[in-house]
Amino acid sequence: KNDINILGIETSCDETAVAIVKNGREIISNVVASQIESHKRFGGVVPEIASRHHVEQMTIVLEEAISKSKLDWDDIDAVAVTEGPGLVGALLVGVNSAKALAFAKQKPLIGVHHIAGHIYANRLVSEFQFPMLALIVSGGHTELVLMKEHGNYEVIGETRDDAAGEAYDKVARMLKLPYPGGPQIDRLAAMGEETIDFPRAWLEDDSYDFSFSGLKSAVINKIHNAKQRGEQLKDEDIAASFQASVIDVLTKKTVRAAKEFNVKQVIVAGGVAANKALRAELETQFKTLEIPLVIPPLKLCTDNAAMIAAAGAISYEQGKRSGLDLNANASLVL
Ligand code: KG4
Ligand code: ZN
Repeated sequence: KNDINILGIETSCDETAVAIVKNGREIISNVVASQIESHKRFGGVVPEIASRHHVEQMTIVLEEAISKSKLDWDDIDAVAVTEGPGLVGALLVGVNSAKALAFAKQKPLIGVHHIAGHIYANRLVSEFQFPMLALIVSGGHTELVLMKEHGNYEVIGETRDDAAGEAYDKVARMLKLPYPGGPQIDRLAAMGEETIDFPRAWLEDDSYDFSFSGLKSAVINKIHNAKQRGEQLKDEDIAASFQASVIDVLTKKTVRAAKEFNVKQVIVAGGVAANKALRAELETQFKTLEIPLVIPPLKLCTDNAAMIAAAGAISYEQGKRSGLDLNANASLVL
């Protein structure tokens, strides 16, 4: 048998996910159990609830992923799991499940960085071309990563405070929109206009880092002051103006990095990659530059285990293995 099948497990936040991927590129099965409904009434992810849901869902999701794949354990070459970063209690459920499976089924165990997973989601769509630039924008991360070869990650920029998705969620909360707020702001912004000139955090001239907390404060102040003065502000316009600031910074920094490092391909990953205006702006910019841009379909942008299996496949090929002493690491570095 020449095919390599990797079983991936992801539990770093609020999705319990198991998938099987063939040769690092082909999804055989991909099951995701979302907990969004359970966290909604709290306006965000409650770590303790997340862990308990993972425990309840893990065996169900695992069995479904295996039965849908029509494979059995003899066909599985290794078990890959997100070891971090993320919520430690949530990660532990995945890591311990993976360790138990690796031990019981006598399979190699491979710990995967969650961001490496988001990046490798793109390889399920299109083969990588190096050097490659990845923009990762999710609820927990905002990073620009340069890759010169498989499994090699250089973080050239990251957020110094809030993640892009976190900023979306917080602004949505101020506008009393339900969690997760990103899709809600996306929808409202399309109906509004950029009437407010919110700040853009460019930071130092040569920096690829991001900062979104100042923007978040500017939005709070604007809403607060308008209320005090009895000034009428449309939620649609607040959303459009906030989003314009986020997209402007994300796009311009990604374009500058793509040019500086002469990349052959740009990929975007993470939940915020679902944003319609961001996708459109990146597409326009990179079309002009004639640099291929890959954005995976929505289902692969948000947390899933196929991306973990895809990243694990490269580690497997490169001979990287984890021991049964593998531990969850909430602040694992890429
Ligand atoms: O990658 P993801 O599913 O989970 C993390 O690893 O964080 O990303 C979730 C984030 C949330 O903050 C959510 O509001 C945001 O992605 N998001 C969006 C959109 N869809 C999801 N943000 C802006 N526009 C969207 N359409
Ligand atoms: Zn994620």
